[in-house]
Amino acid sequence: MNYVESLKESMYIPSEELVDDMKEIDGDIMILGVSGKMGLNLAKLVKRASNKSESMKKIYGVARFSESDGIREELESEGIETIKCDFMSENQLEGLPKVKNVIYMVGYKFGTVGNEDYAWAINSYLPGRIASKYKDSNIVAFSTGCVYPLVKMSEGAPSEEFPPEAVGEYAQSCLGRERIFQYFSKQNKTPTTIFRLNYAIDLRYGIVSEIAQSVLNEWPIDLTMGHANVIWQKDACEMAIRSLRVASTPANIINVTGPETVSIRWMAERFAEKFNKTPKFIGSESDIALLSNASKAHAIFGYPKTTIREMIDITSEWLLNGGDTIDKPTHFQERQGKY
Ligand SMILES: NC(=O)c1ccc[n+]([C@@H]2O[C@H](COP(=O)([O-])OP(=O)(O)OC[C@H]3O[C@@H](n4cnc5c(N)ncnc54)[C@H](OP(=O)(O)O)[C@@H]3O)[C@@H](O)[C@H]2O)c1
Repeated sequence: MNYVESLKESMYIPSEELVDDMKEIDGDIMILGVSGKMGLNLAKLVKRASNKSESMKKIYGVARFSESDGIREELESEGIETIKCDFMSENQLEGLPKVKNVIYMVGYKFGTVGNEDYAWAINSYLPGRIASKYKDSNIVAFSTGCVYPLVKMSEGAPSEEFPPEAVGEYAQSCLGRERIFQYFSKQNKTPTTIFRLNYAIDLRYGIVSEIAQSVLNEWPIDLTMGHANVIWQKDACEMAIRSLRVASTPANIINVTGPETVSIRWMAERFAEKFNKTPKFIGSESDIALLSNASKAHAIFGYPKTTIREMIDITSEWLLNGGDTIDKPTHFQERQGKY
């Protein structure tokens, strides 16, 4: 295994905590929306933790598999049962098996402007269909920190006590998703966790990779959204799986991200040292940013295992050793909520 392959493989090794939790999770696990940017990582962690804990769970991965990128084959080779399904088709949704644990990763973000009706259907209507079908399951529903407004840096990041105030129709439809899962959690006594994530960082995409690529290629970096919260994707996936154990009714809302508010300028300067480059900045830091306080998640699961310094080191090594990238920018710089 070469260096790049070993870095990739490290994303799929479950922690002891995850393996221990897997022993306590009763029943099989179905991942809805498995073919997206995080799904393969999460599904492999579920499967490997299940194998390691000898809990003999059946793991399902479901999506339309709309991109022919080999994900379905990779999941199958791991022993995960894949099902091709368009959740918006009543017949296809009806045909899905009932499973005790559901991790819901479906969402629609980029292209929302001009397709607002579709975004609301996927992000707000579909959750009702899923919550009804899986009313007897435990559900972890992925959401986003975009449900919070941009906040003043001087006032600090919002925690779960802070009321959401979604900016733009993408964020509003995601708040709709949360509210619908909350409603059905109460109505049907379905244990649910709302998993409000801010920026998963993978080897191949995410804010850290974007800044690294900009420094390496001497592309300008807009500093207006000068700060962000990020979390290593493997840590985020582990917390999502472990969230099955803290699902409750009413739904348990958990902000999920890293502990520090990262300065984009600072991060670019660290990459510049590694690549022997001078970063090109445009604009200057605004005093408001999209932030999230994940202290509740850290109290439940512990701090994420991968630090921001490690993310920078790993991302540099990945790029310098010819690791590939996915061309799916986060658009974290967006300040009007228009995606
Ligand atoms: N990645 C991040 O940093 C981040 C940050 C905050 C929040 N989130 C949220 O976390 C979740 C997972 O993130 P992600 O980056 O993996 O999302 P993603 O790349 O957008 O993946 C979405 C998944 O939903 C599936 N899907 C969409 N419409 C479907 C339909 N009608 N029927 C069946 N499957 C459908 C897609 O697969 P097909 O097209 O193949 O069906 C894909 O598997 C998303 O809800 C996202 O909004 C992610």
